[in-house]
Amino acid sequence: MTALPAHILDEIRELPGKYPQPRSAVMPALDLAQEELGHLTPEAMTEVAAALELDPGYVEGVATFYSLFHLEPIGKHHFYVCTNLSCALRGANEIVDHVRQAIGVKEPDQVSADGMFSYEEVECLGACEFAPMMRFDHRYHYDLTPAKIDQLIAETKGAISPPRSPGRSAAKPPGGDAKTRIRQGSNQPQSSTAKSESPLPDPPQQVGRGKLSSPLPDPPQQVGRGKLSSPLPSPPQQVGRGKRSGPAPNKKADA
Ligand code: FES
Repeated sequence: MTALPAHILDEIRELPGKYPQPRSAVMPALDLAQEELGHLTPEAMTEVAAALELDPGYVEGVATFYSLFHLEPIGKHHFYVCTNLSCALRGANEIVDHVRQAIGVKEPDQVSADGMFSYEEVECLGACEFAPMMRFDHRYHYDLTPAKIDQLIAETKGAISPPRSPGRSAAKPPGGDAKTRIRQGSNQPQSSTAKSESPLPDPPQQVGRGKLSSPLPDPPQQVGRGKLSSPLPSPPQQVGRGKRSGPAPNKKADA
C-alpha cells in the first residue's frame, strides 16, 4: 500500500510534461502530496521522487528548503501570518498573539487540541498595502483585527463541510482593490462589514506573448527610412549662401 493514492500519483506523473525542465514539477508534485496528506511524510517524498523519476535526495532537499512544505503534522486549517516589516508596523505581532490565544497553542506549528488549527509566522506575502494580513489555508485575508480572526475561526468551526481546497484565488481586500483605495486617498476599508473573500482584480488580459488586449497607441507611421508620414514643418528656404528667399530688411535709402 502506498502513502499517496493512485489518482494523486497519476496526477504527479503527468506534471513533468507541463514544464520545459521536467524536474520543475517537483514543487507542484510535493504540493499535491501535502494537500492530500496534510504534511509530507518520508514515504510520500519517496513516492513523489519515483513518480517523477528524480533522486529522492533532491526531492527531500526541496521539501526541507521551503517553509511552506510541512514535514510534521499541522492543523487541518493553518494560519500563515505575515510578520514582515509592513505588517509588523501595522500590528502583526498582536495578530499572532491573538491567533495563538484563540486556537489555544503556545508556539508555531503546534496543533490545537481539536486538531483543527495551527499557525506559523511567514515573510512578506506581497500584499503589504493591506497590512496586517495573512494567508489562511489558500486564501488571503487583509486589514486584520482580532475580531476578524475570531469570526474566521467561528466560521471555520461552524462549517459543516468546509472545502478542503477552495482554490488558489486570493481574497479581495476590503474597500476594493489597491487602485480604488489609492484613488479614494484612503487605506481603510469602506465598511467594517466588508468581506475579504472575493478574488483579486484580474490582471490585464494577454492576447499573445507580450501583447496586451488593449493596445498601446500607434507610433507615428514611417513612410520610408527616417521619414515620417506627417512631415515636419519646412525650414526657411535658402536661395544662396547666406541669402534668404524672402525680402531682406529694408536698408536706409542713404546707405
Ligand atoms: S510585509 Fe506583510 S505582506 Fe508584505
